[in-house]
Amino acid sequence: MPKRAFITGITGQDGSYLTELLVQKGYEVHGLVRRTSSMQRGRLDGLVLSPAQRKDQVFLHYGDLGESSALVRLFHKIKPDEVYHLGGQSHVRVSFESPEYTFDINASGTARLLECIRDCGQPVRFYHASTCEMFGRPETSPQNENTPFRPVSPYACSKAASHYLTSCYRDSYGLFACNGILFNHESPRRGENFVTRKIARGVAAIKQGREKILKLGNTDARKDWGYAPEFVAAMWQMLQQDKADDFVIATGEAHSVQEFVETAFQIAGLDWHAHVETDPSQMRPAEVGLIVGDASKARKSLGWEPKTRFQELVRIMVEAELQDDA
Ligand code: NAP
Ligand code: GDD
Repeated sequence: MPKRAFITGITGQDGSYLTELLVQKGYEVHGLVRRTSSMQRGRLDGLVLSPAQRKDQVFLHYGDLGESSALVRLFHKIKPDEVYHLGGQSHVRVSFESPEYTFDINASGTARLLECIRDCGQPVRFYHASTCEMFGRPETSPQNENTPFRPVSPYACSKAASHYLTSCYRDSYGLFACNGILFNHESPRRGENFVTRKIARGVAAIKQGREKILKLGNTDARKDWGYAPEFVAAMWQMLQQDKADDFVIATGEAHSVQEFVETAFQIAGLDWHAHVETDPSQMRPAEVGLIVGDASKARKSLGWEPKTRFQELVRIMVEAELQDDA
């Protein structure tokens, strides 16, 4: 019998890469999808899988993290061995506009899933998509699994609640439940309204004469940016350990949005000075401080290491956009 994985957020950046990884490992992959007015699911349509793998190994089910009844039914039907909980309202600035929705889907959504696991009567391994945003404005740098959380956005508060729920169910009920505290990870599949993809798309549009200006918010912000396919591999590795635990996954290097801009324009042979303007609507009521990750625990216990560094990541993203738009 192949192992069965259930992925929430399968249509997202990480969900799509994780699906490819698990299918290559022989898993049967079940994904939660929301009903939308269009049947197009860009990232899933572009999965690097053979027609047979798609047909025999990937199954989609309607549901929503806001509705427990559908989740309970799905658990009984799928009987997953591993659950990768990646679904949620993942945009930090949007969380200031929709804090209640963000909290319900991200925090209560995790409680709904954990209750399904507690009640399903079989051993299930659970991965929760925690985030470095929980560190907020930390007093120490770099941050590791023991650094206190000081969240500064509704998104980060909802993820901190979800993180603690995950460790609470591990401690209280002995569930195999892991938190992956992932720092920013990017790719050509990143959502268009996250800054790296926005820059890569903007650069391609300017290069091809379709746009003249790229408008951005705070370009002084510094992030620890890695490559998404490498980060989803760590999710799988966490669930293969003998004991459930929490891990920071990061590159350990911080670069500013401005550096991303300069590198991206340079790769396309353009001068950023002529094309970048400030857009005050992209500023956030609060920004995190300098967060940069210490992934030494993951290196020791999982053997996980980042391979793709900043310059190469920017190149991958810009070249993908230039090719798409050619
Ligand atoms: P993403 O591309 O924004 O994908 C989010 C996924 O969640 C999508 O599949 C989305 O479905 C689904 N979703 C949203 N609301 C839902 C709901 N009410 N019910 C069911 N599904 C819902 O995010 P990502 O970059 O892949 O990140 C995956 C997870 O890791 C997220 O929880 C994010 O907060 C967290 N995280 C990401 C990073 C990063 O740098 N990427 C770092 C740390 C943590 P639709 O396609 O229908 O919208
Ligand atoms: N989105 C966006 N758009 N961000 C901008 C812009 C812009 O026009 N201009 C500057 N920024 C700055 C933001 O203020 C932030 O400091 C940085 O660019 C990165 O923003 P995002 O790409 O939106 O990502 P994020 O770091 O806020 O959130 C992502 O990473 C988190 C982990 O740190 C998301 O994937 C979260 O789900 C994830 O938890």
